Amino acid sequence: MRLAGKTALIFGGGQAPSDDPNAPMGNGRAVALTYAREGAKAFVADRDINAAQAVVNEITAEGGTAIAQACDVLEEGDISAAIDATKNHWGRLDILHNNVGLSIEAGDAEITDIDADAFDHIMRLNLRAMVLAAKHALPIMREQRSGVILNISSIAATETYPWVGYKASKAAILALTEQQAIQNAEYGIRAVAIQPGMIDTVMAVDARAKAWDQPRAKVAATRAAKVPMGRQGTAQDVANAALFLVSDEASFISGVSLRVDGASGCRVG
Ligand SMILES: NC(=O)c1ccc[n+]([C@@H]2O[C@H](COP(=O)([O-])OP(=O)(O)OC[C@H]3O[C@@H](n4cnc5c(N)ncnc54)[C@H](O)[C@@H]3O)[C@@H](O)[C@H]2O)c1
Repeated sequence: MRLAGKTALIFGGGQAPSDDPNAPMGNGRAVALTYAREGAKAFVADRDINAAQAVVNEITAEGGTAIAQACDVLEEGDISAAIDATKNHWGRLDILHNNVGLSIEAGDAEITDIDADAFDHIMRLNLRAMVLAAKHALPIMREQRSGVILNISSIAATETYPWVGYKASKAAILALTEQQAIQNAEYGIRAVAIQPGMIDTVMAVDARAKAWDQPRAKVAATRAAKVPMGRQGTAQDVANAALFLVSDEASFISGVSLRVDGASGCRVG
């Protein structure tokens, strides 16, 4: 129970949809379940209310406490409503976990092919939403004089990556996290980031299979072969790292990004 008594708001805490009953767990769902298993009350905010409710049902079936709310992080009003609801239900906001992020599914492309509207959309979804979530969460956390913001970036921020919207937004998240850390340390608030590498999720693998018209297994094998450890990670790998970073065990850690990537980020050349 490493998060006993804490509340966690997870934006994008649902699960990307799939027709496959054996589809792997997504990062949002894994982190919501993991936080709840460690004693946190989980507020699951997702554009897909059915996906959010399914995660909440899993948590409550295990004896945990959770609430689902529809929220489109493109809308500032939805973001602030989820933050206010977390505070109103449980009296505090300890963990803000920003999981939403899209690339190829949102029309990302190489710089010479990028559509201006698609670029704007990706920046609003991946970056602006995290800025606005912090804008509304920080006054609550500053009043509490405690809190943790965890921003999900990507190894794409620091490795060679082809598509410009995802690269630029995920790299900006690292700078944003540092700014949040330095400007809020005096209030007892920490800000941290995670850079997942190749993780076997519906959103990452199935979206590529669809875009490239390839079988899922082929895309998964290609991704695994790129990882020095020879396998894709799981959403649970990311959730385990997140659990440490948001827990009091990491109380002197702020402004950093942790790669969860099977050593992919160590490769040069
Ligand atoms: N899977 C990977 O290989 C990988 C690698 C690096 C980084 N990441 C990052 O991990 C995060 C999660 O990825 P995932 O593949 O595990 O997906 P996921 O299964 O966690 O699904 C993301 C959730 O976000 C929700 N969502 C999408 N748009 C939304 C919006 N506008 N408002 C609110 N909710 C919205 C979806 O409904 C879904 O439930 C993303 O930020 C992604 O960039 C993933």
